[in-house]
Amino acid sequence: MPTATVSLAIIGQGVMGQNLALNFASHGINLSVFDLNPNHVEHSVALSQSLDGTILGADSLCDLLTQLPPPRAIVLSLPAGNAIDASCDALLEAGLDREDLVIDSGNCHWDDTLARQQRYQGKLRFLASAISGGEVGARHGPSLMISGSFLAWQQIAPLWHTIAAKADNRNGQPLPTVSDNPNAVPCAGYVGPDGSGHFVKTIHNGIEYAQMQLWAEAYQLLKQHGQMSNNAIAALFKQWQLGPLQSYLLDCTIAVLEAIDEVTDTPLLPLIVDAAGQKGTGTWTAKASLALGVAAPSVHSAVAARAISSQKALRQQLSQQLASSSQAALSAVELQGLHSALEQALLGATLINYAQGFEVIASQAQQQQWPLDLAAIAQLWRAGCIIRTPLLQTMAQALACDPDAHLLEDRKIQQRLNPTLPLWRRTLLAGISAGVALPVFSSALAYVDGLRCADSPANLLQGMRDHFGGHRFRRYDDPSGALHHHPWPR
Ligand code: 6PG
Repeated sequence: MPTATVSLAIIGQGVMGQNLALNFASHGINLSVFDLNPNHVEHSVALSQSLDGTILGADSLCDLLTQLPPPRAIVLSLPAGNAIDASCDALLEAGLDREDLVIDSGNCHWDDTLARQQRYQGKLRFLASAISGGEVGARHGPSLMISGSFLAWQQIAPLWHTIAAKADNRNGQPLPTVSDNPNAVPCAGYVGPDGSGHFVKTIHNGIEYAQMQLWAEAYQLLKQHGQMSNNAIAALFKQWQLGPLQSYLLDCTIAVLEAIDEVTDTPLLPLIVDAAGQKGTGTWTAKASLALGVAAPSVHSAVAARAISSQKALRQQLSQQLASSSQAALSAVELQGLHSALEQALLGATLINYAQGFEVIASQAQQQQWPLDLAAIAQLWRAGCIIRTPLLQTMAQALACDPDAHLLEDRKIQQRLNPTLPLWRRTLLAGISAGVALPVFSSALAYVDGLRCADSPANLLQGMRDHFGGHRFRRYDDPSGALHHHPWPR
């Protein structure tokens, strides 16, 4: 059998690696795959039989390297951490060339990516290609965030553009990956140097955490306070899907609310244990924001909510011991009011969540001297990724108009946010009085109220710091900005 000319290789044929391989093959791109488990390789090869491109299985890294024409492009689809270094070392031992490209598609920490680029300099070219979209995205069109050498990116860009999700550049709506729409643009792009691709993906995940938590809080409020069934909540969310809340995570929410368990043939959701897992990117986002001194309370609250959720036994105990709030059933009119208020609260809190994420990216870019284009990043998220929503089109436009401004300074964002605020407050009042925890809704509104407060109480903090620690303070009546100390009576 004649051997196909392969364009790239993928190491790691787990769920993501395999779906990515099938995506390339379905676009007629031939590739080689390797996995420590030969069954995974065989499975990928078998699945590709009906596709336009060929997937060649390799039984060793040496075999993989002989299948690839130089300069080689090898994607790692492996768990973040030591597996990446081990693979690079093994590839070098197998004969990798200094011009060859190793492309890390995992959720790696950006500092580790930079360290790898430095460690392997002169031995191989190390590129980050963060991927979002889960297994469906990997198979049918992910969002891809690349960083490292721009020249290396140019080598793979045509392939990446082919398999990436596509968005309509006029309205931000996702399009099929193969589209003759002249406005279709691929959601794959060069983000910047170093590990900036992995950094941007991490912030994407932080936004994902807070967005998921918002939907979970909305669900809890409707269930506990509105006494609605899961099916009724799904029906309401379907109506919202037609408006500005349209988003992939809302699709997911509805799918989970409606799912029927295969084993018991009963609704799935009540069978799922209410303790959230996490792999760490939400915490990385929270830590990054703290280290940068940027307020991103939405992701902080979302990470904390996951931690509280995992304390199942304690929650069960305290649910019997701490005073609860009395709840009268809502009238139909009150329930209708709650729906309208909550829809607006969700819109407001969503805008704030993304705005915080872009603030963290902007601050990191400044600190690291990465020339990141925030509008282009927003555009990369318009299709394929988990946090895709048409609202990103408005955000991308705002970020393009004034890249240095906070998103809340944009007139169009203000026009969307302002009407939500009174109803957002009403939503919180309902939640607080019913004893429903709404941590992301609450912290995000506090963020807005903090930012629109011209005279903050930080003068009191500064006075206290000077009182007990002699930390000194600036005075309005001294434009020099000099620091002053008050002679506190002791
Ligand atoms: C994506 C997802 C993906 C993964 C998260 C899950 O963009 O495709 O974000 O990367 O599902 O990492 O993270 P947690 O397990 O921490 O929720």
